[in-house]
Amino acid sequence: MSTLAVYPGSFDPLTNGHVDIISRGARLFDRIIVSILVNAEKAPLFSMEERVEIAREVFKDQRNVEVDTFHGLLVDYVERRGAHVIVRGLRAVSDFEFEFQMALMNQRLNPRIETVFMMPAEQYTYISSRLIKEVFSLGGRVHGLVPELVELRLREKQLAPRGA
Ligand code: PNS
Repeated sequence: MSTLAVYPGSFDPLTNGHVDIISRGARLFDRIIVSILVNAEKAPLFSMEERVEIAREVFKDQRNVEVDTFHGLLVDYVERRGAHVIVRGLRAVSDFEFEFQMALMNQRLNPRIETVFMMPAEQYTYISSRLIKEVFSLGGRVHGLVPELVELRLREKQLAPRGA
């Protein structure tokens, strides 16, 4: 039996921490679906299309990584996709409370689905999409913290006129 896992998130934008977890998941499971939540934030920096395009490009050579979008309840989506595993990354104790709540709520909503937590490599434990956006918008260097394509797209956004 092959194991299909779903790695859900906002990915606004994809960071090297996400990439690390996805690569670990791709080694552990037969197939992993990077599932991007539609409408996670009212005003995301990257549109859904941009986030999908970035993730597909970054994982284009990894045959067991798929990129998809979802809306509504995560457990319903996971079931629809025929998966039984949700992968979430745990960076620090600060992540634990929210992740614990989500895992238990999802377990209650659908006891057939298991949440599996994975730790990223140490050098990524402090990275978050929110911090990347903040640091970049204030002129800080994000090189090495996000895929090169994300860095490029961030720079393009900085150069583009507002609303473009
Ligand atoms: O990258 P994020 O923002 O931490 O991901 C959060 C995500 C997308 C996993 C979570 O918000 C989610 O699952 N949303 C879908 C709606 C849902 O099922 N909510 C109940 C979760 S207990």
